[in-house]
Amino acid sequence: MDEQQRIEQLRSELHHHNHLYYIENTPSISDQEFDVLMRELQELEARHPEMYDANSPSQRVGSDLSNEFVTVQHQRPMLSLANTYNEDEVREFYARVSEGLGSEDFEICCELKFDGLSISLHYEDGQLVRAVTRGDGTQGDDVTANVRTIRTIPLKLQADGGWPREFEIRGEVLMPWASFDRLNAEREAVGDQLFANPRNAASGTLKSKTTDKVAQRGLDAYLYYLLGDELPSDGHYENLQAARQWGFQVSTHMIKAHSLEEVMKYIHHWDVARKELPVATDGIVLKVNSLRQQRMLGLTAKSPRWAIAYKFQAEQASTPLREVTFQVGRTGAVTPVANMDAVLLSGTMVRRATLHNADVMAQLDLHIGDNVLVEKGGEIIPKIVGVDESCLPEPRGPKVQFITHCPECGAELVRYEGEAAYYCPNDTGCPPQIKGRIEHFCSRRAMNIDSIGTEKVEDFYSKGLIHNVADLYDLDEYRILDLGRGYKARMAKNIIDGIEHSKQVPFERVLFALGIRFVGETTAKLLATRFHDIDTLAAASLDEMLSVDGIGMIIAQSVKSWFADADNAFLVERLRSKGVQLALSEEALAQQSDKLAGLSIVISGVFAQHSRDEYKRIIEQNGGKNVGSISAKTSFILAGENMGPAKLEKAGKLGIRIVREDEFLEMLKA
Ligand code: IVH
Repeated sequence: MDEQQRIEQLRSELHHHNHLYYIENTPSISDQEFDVLMRELQELEARHPEMYDANSPSQRVGSDLSNEFVTVQHQRPMLSLANTYNEDEVREFYARVSEGLGSEDFEICCELKFDGLSISLHYEDGQLVRAVTRGDGTQGDDVTANVRTIRTIPLKLQADGGWPREFEIRGEVLMPWASFDRLNAEREAVGDQLFANPRNAASGTLKSKTTDKVAQRGLDAYLYYLLGDELPSDGHYENLQAARQWGFQVSTHMIKAHSLEEVMKYIHHWDVARKELPVATDGIVLKVNSLRQQRMLGLTAKSPRWAIAYKFQAEQASTPLREVTFQVGRTGAVTPVANMDAVLLSGTMVRRATLHNADVMAQLDLHIGDNVLVEKGGEIIPKIVGVDESCLPEPRGPKVQFITHCPECGAELVRYEGEAAYYCPNDTGCPPQIKGRIEHFCSRRAMNIDSIGTEKVEDFYSKGLIHNVADLYDLDEYRILDLGRGYKARMAKNIIDGIEHSKQVPFERVLFALGIRFVGETTAKLLATRFHDIDTLAAASLDEMLSVDGIGMIIAQSVKSWFADADNAFLVERLRSKGVQLALSEEALAQQSDKLAGLSIVISGVFAQHSRDEYKRIIEQNGGKNVGSISAKTSFILAGENMGPAKLEKAGKLGIRIVREDEFLEMLKA
């Protein structure tokens, strides 16, 4: 067997094992064995870029290259469902359907309503070709690259499936509770803002600019609607059972009901049982099962007449408000928190609830001692939805006011234009901000000093060992051991080793680690690529920064004022003296140029010398921008073999130059 054949064989085996593991839950090989096969595939694919396949199992791991979302038209509009919140409306729906179908018998397919974001998947010849978000229902974002990393979405369908040559399947992308809890715990550890619920987390993740992030976050998907011209059956339920055979994850909790009683029984059962599910649900969807009958019933302007969503009540409780406290985060943002008498809500004791910001708080018109209504909807953090007017104390207690000064350091709070939050401006003297910045500095994506987390920062800070990130580099094992309190030699050594290692972290991550407002990972990369070292960046004018694609006024001003601060300048000098990387390495510089600066380049087709991902990286390293679709703004198309005819035609119409692989590589050498 030659290497090309081996690639095909590995791909098909890995698709199969992926299916057994994620869809059937019956893996037949160990994780290690799977990894060995995957590594072999990755190595062979690296040697054979001409065999690039976006649907290869190796694509599941994603990459850190930024991808752009192109807006595309839905072939069939994505309608939403009419919502009901009570059982009477369910009865009315049933009666309407019955009447609409005359004297015909009908079945109602009862399903869970998954609380994520809807997605439309297109398959041709058994392969995933496109994944599009709902958007406004008529057009959405093409998120295919990100969706390919979701393990439960098949890239290739089961060989013997009998699927139609072309079809669309819709469903919900979700973040399971387990992934959600892990993600939020990680974010908490580094002081990032937490996601309020799995739906927001899933939606934020699916819109990520880089696919590796999506791959790491453990998204899941359930499919619930099959569309196409050649479906296997007239039954919606039956079609989904077939889709399961093809390799899709279809909920096993669907039933066909033959009476209103059965429908109600289903609703009552899942209102309670859903709390045991691994993913969030917010209701039940009822659908007339026969597609023929669906057509008979038709649509209204917004939603089908053959389906309805019954939404579960969010659980509420009433309890007295005792105090409002104010929390200061890493960025100085101040969040009001309600402290209440403990009350049982969805199985957990709740004592605290967020009030979000000053505006939300004012709108609620809270007084100490009021009975407040606490709700736990899709959110993990309970929220106060109002005052329980039915039992207010007489007279009411004092009105809750937002504070004017920082509860931690006493500085007067400020409000920046266009922002809902109040901030403590004392970033160098306010303890939670100082500790938050140090935690951020140590976090995995920054300096990756994983031996130091929230607790150690708290400990070192409160004992006066560290006041800023440069102090970390003055620590030694003896000073840590001096703290007593369970610090053992091994742990102390670990901490110091971690700090020592961080001196190798490349400049762009150091820049991110500094915690300059609005300078996230991507921005840090842009700045490092353009300015190469910290001194050049510190000396850069606003105009110079603004000339970088992706850097706007807010970021530029924030960077400028950070470097203008004498404390920060001193901090940089101390980091320099300790050997932290404050410039791009020779190696990184050698790979970089501005030969493609200002150019928007579309990559299309199959390449012989480098993979598409490598070309993306090459474009970025040379100052260019890789864009997904051809427009009048496209500078040229980097074209390999088999460029699609539609793209060729569009390029021709717009008069956009086609650059062949060899020519492109020559361009960079010149
Ligand atoms: S069917 C025309 N089934 O709820 C019918 N939707 O407003 C299309 N959803 O946008 C939807 N679980 O995101 C259907 N089992 C399920 C669902 C479901 C969740 C979402 C979907 C849709 C919204 C309805």
